[in-house]
Amino acid sequence: MDLVTSTWTEPANTATALLLLGRGTDPASERGVDCPGDLPAPSDPDLVARATAAKAALGERVFVLGHHYQRDEVIQFADVTGDSFKLAREAAARPDAEFIVFCGVHFMAESADILTGPGQQVILPDLAAGCSMADMAVLGQVETAWEQFTDLGIADDVVPVTYMNSSADIKGFVGRNNGVVCTSSNAKRALDWAFEQGQQVFFLPDQHLGRNTAVLEMGFDLDDCVLYDPHKPHGGLTPEQLRDAKMILWRGHCSVHGRFTIDSVREVRERVPGVRVLVHPECRHDVVRAADEVGSTEYIIRALDAAPAGSAWAVGTELNLVRRMALAHPDKHITFLDRTVCYCSTMNRIDLPHLVWALEELVAGRVPNRITVDEDTAKYARVALDQMLALP
Ligand code: 13P
Ligand code: SF4
Repeated sequence: MDLVTSTWTEPANTATALLLLGRGTDPASERGVDCPGDLPAPSDPDLVARATAAKAALGERVFVLGHHYQRDEVIQFADVTGDSFKLAREAAARPDAEFIVFCGVHFMAESADILTGPGQQVILPDLAAGCSMADMAVLGQVETAWEQFTDLGIADDVVPVTYMNSSADIKGFVGRNNGVVCTSSNAKRALDWAFEQGQQVFFLPDQHLGRNTAVLEMGFDLDDCVLYDPHKPHGGLTPEQLRDAKMILWRGHCSVHGRFTIDSVREVRERVPGVRVLVHPECRHDVVRAADEVGSTEYIIRALDAAPAGSAWAVGTELNLVRRMALAHPDKHITFLDRTVCYCSTMNRIDLPHLVWALEELVAGRVPNRITVDEDTAKYARVALDQMLALP
């Protein structure tokens, strides 16, 4: 990788770009948990050697999965990198690995636990690696909404669809109610399937992925979508609005992708002639509409890999991935869509000290930070996940 010839420009830093990666209790985080062990110091010059040695000692017993938003220092140890769909499949396809170390966030590790066998254990190197979007849909709130649909007499026609970025509880709810999980790679296929099963879709928890897919890929109008706000009585909707909607969108969003604005798109088009704007479908509807291409992290990687030398791109997704792509393609002009830094703070909680700690604990015969989903939840969540894996 040639850093010198790269055209990459680091976005400006901001005070809120990344939550401090606390090593003590962090009650303000999604999970507010402490690392139960002694983490190596980030300044330890032997971290890379220690991770390499621990991984070698574990051999085939361990399989390390790395989401594309992970830091470079972590991603170098991943046996497979991918978006949440690919990683779910990879976890399911490794029945021989005793330990799956998931370098990603909590909901991904839960899905891996659901899809792996009883003899396999899933480890999340830092339990504080949650997802603020997933936390926006809590089972009790979703059940309240469903009761409302039942009282209105529409529940039989409503098919629940949840984005992978949701807790196992929510996936279990969806499986129990004959729905499906989707990811940003297969949201259209999941919605096509759902509309073959019923008249309306209840889409959780990312309003933007739901709206963008329904309007831009399925041909629905914006008016066919209503926003269900769990913090308002009856979701803030009238019975007529609920009955008439094709898409009932949960009021959730990704705080990272929500930062890209239509102004960033206009600004980059003025600044970089001929630029192609490529964004993730978790971005707001006006941003996705103004972009040239939209797709999951895997799609973004494929598009940039295939782009001709000399082409210019402004990419609206998490910064670790965009920087990695820019540095891997110094012959292409790849910039970050926003002028300021924008990391997923929870993805970034998995750093090299946490990975070293988790691997060394395994070598010592202890299983740290195991993620487990209770049997009943897992059973129904698996129904919804299997339905996703079976989509045509
Ligand atoms: P994908 O990896 O499925 O594109 O999702 C992006 C994301 O936000 C993961 O948390
Ligand atoms: Fe959650 Fe957004 Fe971070 Fe993905 S990028 S883990 S959706 S907060």
